[in-house]
Amino acid sequence: MTPRAHALPLLLVAASLTACSSAPTAAPAAATPPGSTRAPNDAMAKVNTVAEDRDVWQQLLTDHAKIRRTVVHRQEGERGIVEATTESDDPVVAARIRNHAVAMQNRMKAGAQVRVWDEVFEELFRRHDLVTLELTMTEKGVKIVEWSTDPETIALLRSHAMGVSDFVREGHEAGARATPRLPVGAPLPPPEVADGASTPAR
Ligand code: HEM
Repeated sequence: MTPRAHALPLLLVAASLTACSSAPTAAPAAATPPGSTRAPNDAMAKVNTVAEDRDVWQQLLTDHAKIRRTVVHRQEGERGIVEATTESDDPVVAARIRNHAVAMQNRMKAGAQVRVWDEVFEELFRRHDLVTLELTMTEKGVKIVEWSTDPETIALLRSHAMGVSDFVREGHEAGARATPRLPVGAPLPPPEVADGASTPAR
């Protein structure tokens, strides 16, 4: 591997650190100007409009055949862990995956819900202070590691991860239906590989 080839993943990982972790330990509050009605840590400032975010996720659903994703579920004591890597060989789609993952993480931090008709998404947003999420940029997309120690939240995390894999397999068809919800304490789901390209056209 050339020195340049080594440098790229490192740079991408470094860039991800600013987008990393939704743990409650946020950065120190910025000074709030006198008379300001803004909260000191205005998480909403990083949230796109719904229209902007919708354009991106709709395009991801359209391009699902160019996306692949692996998910591994683990349990370490009380901690339920989900590791997911979502990538595309198409650099435009890869950039869109990264953009979407960061935008959704910003929404989670701000509690700025989307897909409110889908119980799994709606509840996961409400419980996101019980989730720790690390987002790392990869050369072709993103890797997330997220965990919780709350059993209901763990079931939601696993359900959400499997729902995103369905988006990758089926595109708009999965996007239009509610995400199946795993019962609390369900057996650990097996690892999955979702490859949009290998799903037969409907
Ligand atoms: C093929 C289509 C899609 C792809 C490839 C995709 C990809 C991703 C990825 C990589 C993440 C980071 C968390 C993870 O890997 O599990 C994520 C999170 C998220 N996505 Fe999507 N997504 C797609 C469609 C959608 C749609 C249609 C919505 C509807 C609003 C959506 C809403 C969200 C939300 C709310 C999160 C944050 C969840 C969390 O951080 O726990 N995604 N998505």
